[in-house]
Amino acid sequence: MIDDSSSPLAVVILAAGQGTRMRSRTPKVLHGIGGRPLVGHVLAAARGLAPERLVVVVRHERERVAGAIADLDDSALIVDQDDIPGTGRAVEIALGSLGGFDGDVLVLSADVPLLESATLSALVAAHHHRRASVTLLSAVVGDPAGYGRVIRDDAGDVQRIVEQKDATEAEASVAEINAGVYVFRAATLRTQLPRVDAVNAQGERYLTDVVGLARGAGEVVSVVQAPDAAAALGVNDRVQLAEAARILNERTVRRWQLEGVTVADPATTWIDVDATLAPDVTVLPNTLILGATTVLSGAVIGPDTSLVDCEVGADATVRRSDATLAVIGAGATVGPFAYLRAGTYLGDKGKIGTFVETKNSTIGERSKVPHLSYIGDATIGTGVNLGAGAITANYDDLAKHRTEIGDEVHTGSHNVFVAPVRLGEGAKTGAGAVIRKDVPAGALGLSLAPQRNIEGWVENNRQGTAAADAAARARTAQKADDGAQEQDG
Ligand code: UD1
Ligand code: CA
Repeated sequence: MIDDSSSPLAVVILAAGQGTRMRSRTPKVLHGIGGRPLVGHVLAAARGLAPERLVVVVRHERERVAGAIADLDDSALIVDQDDIPGTGRAVEIALGSLGGFDGDVLVLSADVPLLESATLSALVAAHHHRRASVTLLSAVVGDPAGYGRVIRDDAGDVQRIVEQKDATEAEASVAEINAGVYVFRAATLRTQLPRVDAVNAQGERYLTDVVGLARGAGEVVSVVQAPDAAAALGVNDRVQLAEAARILNERTVRRWQLEGVTVADPATTWIDVDATLAPDVTVLPNTLILGATTVLSGAVIGPDTSLVDCEVGADATVRRSDATLAVIGAGATVGPFAYLRAGTYLGDKGKIGTFVETKNSTIGERSKVPHLSYIGDATIGTGVNLGAGAITANYDDLAKHRTEIGDEVHTGSHNVFVAPVRLGEGAKTGAGAVIRKDVPAGALGLSLAPQRNIEGWVENNRQGTAAADAAARARTAQKADDGAQEQDG
């Protein structure tokens, strides 16, 4: 294959459109799949080709879109489309920003997010090999509605592209669609773009018209069919957004399965593109592994679990739980029904159990918060066991305060730690204690008065209630019993 790879490559990503069919306050290209905006997927695929120039054309919600692009790829050049609409105008503006660039221009649509670098490289290689002026990517799809159709002549050569809204019935029945991805010689764009008018159903200057114009001028126009038609999916509405998310997720799940991750139910498992899973991780149904989450070998995640930007250690288990920005140590257990908020650090072999909420807290190695607790702004040492119903009262209406619990502390059930407060190493507390003052190392902290029974309180204070009646019956029976015993005696 002749591959003139010395020809420099510029990539232009079109992201200026409004995305009306999304019916959204959020610009279309910022809607996310796999934890990344649509335009982020396209930027990543483009970067895979190491182009000399990378330009993104923006207009709709300019500041938001440009800001997001700068966050994703700070060396992309952002250029502004003017008020002349159409993909042809967008490329014309981009070309202007490339100065005298003389090479190939790969045009990508920010709303076609599933194309991979390998497909794009193959497109560029075919373009060189065929010495073409224009090479476009097409796909044969089951339902071509909404796409531009590739119109070929009797010899099978491409003549032009016709948009859905401008197509005759015969043209609309063509199943080969334009993916919205092309390689052009820069010189061809310079010659043909000025000839593109807006005489069409949408009154826009279509980039697609360059295909017919170049062909008419006797230039070589070639087509590469996408190996996987689904990869050419364009996202114009929320139905297609969900479809793209599903296809991307299928790819991601499959990739991790082949790397040695057990995924029990791929259809209900969602893994973001930036997450990392080690071999021998098990993911159970209805589980979301999102953001930059990493999970180490032997860990079992799910069922019914969501992890966002978390680190999970080797052999840990996280069942039916929700965690964000949390670090879970090796061999630790979380859940069922735990809620780990930002800044939770659970040490190796630690436990955060059922109906427990944690945030901004460190729970040391082998330490356990097993049931019905809220742990906020706390530093807990190693080998600690908090009784059921432990609550850190971390907020006094004005500020947050910390609770410190030393190594090997065991607390009674239903304790409140009124921060700032410290329990020293090895300390213990009684059931129901409200700990307002520090407990020294090794001390037993008690705060409840000894139990006192006030006889007859219910009958005196709750006359006429079922409780009072029951108490009265019990007392009468007891008296009769006592009287009978006296007589016997
Ligand atoms: C476009 C193609 C169509 C192709 C389809 C593939 C044209 C005229 N039609 O149609 O043949 O089958 O993509 O998905 O090109 N944009 C701009 N500036 C504009 C208008 C659009 O930058 O003035 C951007 C959009 O943000 C989007 C991309 O270009 O990322 C495509 O625009 P869109 O309006 O979605 O075109 P389609 O109707 O999908
Ligand atoms: Ca589109």
